[in-house]
Amino acid sequence: MTSWTVRPLPAPESLTAPAAWLLHGAVEAEHECVRDVWGNLELAHTAHEVLTLLRHQRYVRRERFVAVAGPASDTPPDPARVLGSALLSLPVDNNTHTAHLEISVRPDARRQGIGTTLHDAALAVARAAGRTTVTTSTDQGSEPAPGPATVTPSTGSGLVRSEDAGVRFALAHGFELEQVSRRSVLDVPLDASFLAEQQAAATAAAGDAYRVVTWDDPCPDEWVGQLAELETRMSIDAPDGGLDRQEDGWDAARIRATEAELRERGMRHSVAAAVHVPTGALVAFSAVKRPESIDEVVHQQDTLVLAEHRGRRLGMLVKTANLQRLAAVQPGARRIGTWNAAENAHMLAINVALGFRPSGGAGEWQARIG
Ligand SMILES: CC(C)(COP(=O)(O)OP(=O)(O)OC[C@H]1O[C@@H](n2cnc3c(N)ncnc32)[C@H](O)[C@@H]1OP(=O)(O)O)[C@@H](O)C(=O)NCCC(=O)NCCS
Repeated sequence: MTSWTVRPLPAPESLTAPAAWLLHGAVEAEHECVRDVWGNLELAHTAHEVLTLLRHQRYVRRERFVAVAGPASDTPPDPARVLGSALLSLPVDNNTHTAHLEISVRPDARRQGIGTTLHDAALAVARAAGRTTVTTSTDQGSEPAPGPATVTPSTGSGLVRSEDAGVRFALAHGFELEQVSRRSVLDVPLDASFLAEQQAAATAAAGDAYRVVTWDDPCPDEWVGQLAELETRMSIDAPDGGLDRQEDGWDAARIRATEAELRERGMRHSVAAAVHVPTGALVAFSAVKRPESIDEVVHQQDTLVLAEHRGRRLGMLVKTANLQRLAAVQPGARRIGTWNAAENAHMLAINVALGFRPSGGAGEWQARIG
């Protein structure tokens, strides 16, 4: 067993600064964990993204910790000394009773108490910040079949494996499973005529009262206030299972700050939205993030149809509009990944109709730390 200590990871000045070895070590540890679950790094953050997120703390305060092997000094400054890492995210304006915790311990350094020490260090900060609820996630590369070696969330939809290291860890630390999300992946480009048929059917069902608008980051000034309203609604309209989350208010300044952060991270951002023609209001949208570093991969983000405009196939309308546009602006794209609550039957039905296939998911856990 190696000796190790846990310490905070402040943001280094740059990725080449002498102190950056700790950040590179944290990223290496996280990449080992991501590869262990998913078999690739498509869902991993690069060192550049991790540094960017540490620099943008206006809406989410981020505290990082690392477990470092050997003496409590910077010598040698070897990223391989970092055995594990934790990220604590503390919302600044809304949901200030909550904190979200992510812990990654290199597979060959597990079962020595590193995860627990990182957890305890992060929770001390969460408590000091007045947080009473902490959430965490456990990823799974495939969905388990029903059976005794599974845990069911409070929603009753979806399962996680009870023998999974993250699940055992979460249960051992007093977390309860409040939701399961399904990850689904769609191979693109879709057959152009299939997509055109889906789009035509959705357009016919929506009727003349709606028209589609699309944009890449930045959102046109004309729509930014309304997009903020849709994001606010998204925070309460998407199913949250038993997770104790309240409305997360957005305004135009937060949209602009998020766009700037995504750009700095190397993410392009594309949106398709539906305008209700009689009122001129945006009533539905679907957004995707497109990492500049991996042309084949696209990450689906939020999709929302306001409750009062549902049942008119606007979800399919904005999703197909995004897919058509993607084929034109990013012909190298090969996969789009999305996450949906296992109980979100309407959204899953749209995704299944488009050809998304189940590709694992995550357990969403919550503990009271008052
Ligand atoms: C979950 C994770 C962070 C645990 O890190 P770790 O350093 O091995 O954790 P600890 O050694 O502090 O384990 C504490 C307790 O969790 C439970 N546990 C952790 N891993 C386990 C496993 N593979 N099998 C059974 N129990 C396990 C045990 O109760 C363990 O106590 P014990 O060793 O005295 O029996 C690590 O496995 C990991 O990085 N997994 C992938 C990322 C992830 O799922 N993170 C979310 C965590 S909620």
